[in-house]
Order: sequence, then structure tokens, then C-alpha cells
Amino acid sequence: MSPGPAAPPGRVLLDRDAISAAVARVAREIEADFPDGVVLVGVLKGALLFCADLVRALRGTEVLVDFLAISRYAPDSGRVRIVLDVALDLAGRDVVIVEDLVDTGLTAAFLVRHVERLGARRVEVCTLLDKPARRILPVTPRYVGAEVPDVFVLGAGLHLHDRYRNLPVVLEVDRAAVAAGLRPGADRGPGGTIEAESEATA
Ligand code: IMP
Ligand code: MG
Repeated sequence: MSPGPAAPPGRVLLDRDAISAAVARVAREIEADFPDGVVLVGVLKGALLFCADLVRALRGTEVLVDFLAISRYAPDSGRVRIVLDVALDLAGRDVVIVEDLVDTGLTAAFLVRHVERLGARRVEVCTLLDKPARRILPVTPRYVGAEVPDVFVLGAGLHLHDRYRNLPVVLEVDRAAVAAGLRPGADRGPGGTIEAESEATA
């Protein structure tokens, strides 16, 4: 199946059916673990689409939804800053952090600590994609849609300079070639260097 006319050249790693099946399976796993309710905390902007799919698929338990947004100072720097925090009171709650992709694990580890500090009783990580080959911190997402090799991917919420989040599939691309095809200046965030979820990987 073609990823669509606006897609850059690449190889489809997960098509729509594979994404739907992964969402359904992960939803059943979360329901089984949290029959008394769960708070999903989606990490903007990358997890927006996966989180929406997951929320729709969760029917067997009470679900609360919140979001946070982060900014990374430089790829793999481990320096993550919260630019939008959760609004719900997480004290004593069971929380699942919803990510698009866990790569080095630096972001997920930071967010788990953050949610623990907000008083959550239990914190787990759910990710659409897991790229264990590049892990720096020992983060083990309890719920994984699919494992991917050490390649650059776009679509299903994942972006390059904020483009291509809307691709309905997960596409493996040549990052440099795609970047070269973007408008000059497309890589500048509003502040010049810091952009929410700016540089995904080096
Ligand atoms: P890390 O685990 O702290 O290294 O950061 C993971 C984040 O980097 C993910 O949540 C994505 O937003 C982004 N990221 C990692 N790999 C890719 C990729 O292949 N394509 C697009 N974004 C990526
Ligand atoms: Mg992310």
C-alpha cells in the first residue's frame, strides 16, 4: 500500500493494518493491567496520533487522558525540559506515559521520574515504536507496538522538522535526503534552536 502522494521516498515498516493491530493489542494489555482505571499521559507532539488511537481502543477500563510537552536542547543530550505539564492531579494514580518512540531512553527515563515526583502510584511506559539498539538508559517500556531497527522513521506522529507526522504509515527514510528536500529554513524552530520535540535523533 502506498503511504500517499505527499510521502517522501522510503520503505513502509508498519502499514495502517499493522498500526491498528498494534494499537488493539496494546489496549488489551493495558486493560488487563489496570482494570480499576488508568491515566494516559501523551507526550506531545509525537504521541498525539497514537494516543488518540489508544484512547479510542480502550473500552474495558476507566481512562483519563492528559498531555505534556517537552523540549530537547540537543539530540541525545539527555537535557529535556517540560514546556507543558499535566493538568490532572496524578497523586496516587496509575499512569501510563504514551510515547511515539523510545530511542536512547533519555526522554522516557526523565518523564518517568517526573511523573513519579508528581505522586503517581505506578508509572509505566507505552510506546508505538521501540528502538532498543540505541538505548543509553535501561528503560523498558511495558507496552510496545512494534520494535524497529536503528533506522530513521517518519509518520504516525513521528516527524522531521515537524513534517510528515500525518503519514498514515511508519516509513523508514534516508534522513539526510529528506532533510535536503525541505524548504530552506524549515529546520528553524520559533526560538532558533529550541523547538518542542525539535531534533529527534542526530
Ligand atoms: P530518546 O529516547 O530520548 O532518545 O528520544 C526519543 C524521541 O526521539 C522519540 O520520542 C521521538 O520523538 C524521537 N525520535 C527517535 N527516533 C526517531 C526517528 O527515527 N524518527 C523520528 N523521531 C525519532
Ligand atoms: Mg517522542
